[in-house]
Amino acid sequence: MRMFRTILAATIAAAVLAPQSARAQAADAKTAEQVYKNIVQLKGTPADQVQPAMQFIAASLGVNCTFCHVQDKMEADDKGAKKTAREMMAMTAAINTNSFRGQRQVTCYSCHRGSSRPVNMPPVLESDAPAAPAMAAAAPGTPQGQAATVDQILEKYVAAIGGADAMKKVTSRVMTGKILTGGSETPLEVITKAPNMRFTITHNSAGDSFTAFDGTAGWMGSAGRAAREMSAAESAASGLDAEFYLGLRVKELFPQLRRGRPETVAGAECEILNGTAPGRPAVRLYFDKSSGLLLRMVRYADTPMGRNPTQIDYADYRDAGGVKIPFRWTLSRPNGRFTIQIAEVKSNAPVDDRRFAKPAGDVK
Ligand code: HEC
Ligand code: HEC
Repeated sequence: MRMFRTILAATIAAAVLAPQSARAQAADAKTAEQVYKNIVQLKGTPADQVQPAMQFIAASLGVNCTFCHVQDKMEADDKGAKKTAREMMAMTAAINTNSFRGQRQVTCYSCHRGSSRPVNMPPVLESDAPAAPAMAAAAPGTPQGQAATVDQILEKYVAAIGGADAMKKVTSRVMTGKILTGGSETPLEVITKAPNMRFTITHNSAGDSFTAFDGTAGWMGSAGRAAREMSAAESAASGLDAEFYLGLRVKELFPQLRRGRPETVAGAECEILNGTAPGRPAVRLYFDKSSGLLLRMVRYADTPMGRNPTQIDYADYRDAGGVKIPFRWTLSRPNGRFTIQIAEVKSNAPVDDRRFAKPAGDVK
């Protein structure tokens, strides 16, 4: 159960953008071999990238950690699969060096595609389907007239949720609802405050768990235990979720914002913006062409092995204090998925900044 809560907390945490704080960076400074016992391939990479890299490997092969590891003895090389995995790490690096000018084009997933045994033949047809896969209907794009610019897409979004003036009139939100995961429902509260503070409490049957971003750095914990700081990558993702006026801040957060080829999300034609910035996860934003609303954000967390995607789908936009906000969002990762459904929102309820700060002792 504790394991589950920890995973849930971690998943929510990573769901919660901001520059890497000095604090978070200091926590990062150690290398993998300084923290772990048996590092060969990952030598020199930051210690806090080992776990994300492992998640990438496990998801790429569609296996659990114990496929390669002896439980509670992660340093042991007892399993053949772990030794093979090391050889595969060296092979993959060599392919990228020799064939892709050092760019990480090939990853574990390129060959494995979610299986421990890569397939090396094209499959036979399973039905009388047309020989060629049906072409995805080409996005009509904007055949007539000019393509929308980055500024137009963002302006339309801001207007769709109520406009900058209405946005600025709200400075905090106390939201109550539930988190839906694996068929179970857990009550939760999400407290947010401008410019970028956020606190999430999940009321689990075994006790409360918390994830927060204090405006500079993220932390997480569960009742009766010491809180822990998020890694720099978790913190950056968490800070992005905490941006209270995201629509007004996107260009500042991502100075290199580029329009991508339009895509469809759940039947809705979307404009795409791709953003990158040092110290932040790369993002891909999907805006509904007709309503202008943000329907999806995909964040990419870099690991030494490849990028782990986190997709957040926003839905059920409703008015809250003169601004339209999503009352439902679904966060999906290669290893997990949950939905948060908000029932009630109190706008501008007074919230003390100390609420978001990491407690010095155990979390209460
Ligand atoms: C396909 C095999 C494979 C899977 C699956 C895998 N690992 Fe690993 N893991 C490795 C290899 C190989 C290393 C050693 C890397 C090196 O040499 O730098 C390693 C190292 C580690 C270490 C460092 C241990 C030490 O003290 O040296 C930890 C911790 C770890 N893995 C955790 C995990 C977790 C957690 C999961 C599941 C999410 C996981 N691994 C899944 C292959 C795997
Ligand atoms: C260029 C293609 C390719 C890439 C890239 C690749 N693999 Fe593999 N991998 C294979 C093939 C092919 C096999 C099966 C070999 C066999 O059956 O003997 C395999 C087998 C394995 C196995 C053994 C599975 C078992 O059933 O014991 C592990 C573990 C593994 N790969 C891990 C990885 C990891 C981790 C990465 C990324 C660092 C990776 N592979 C990248 C092609 C690839």
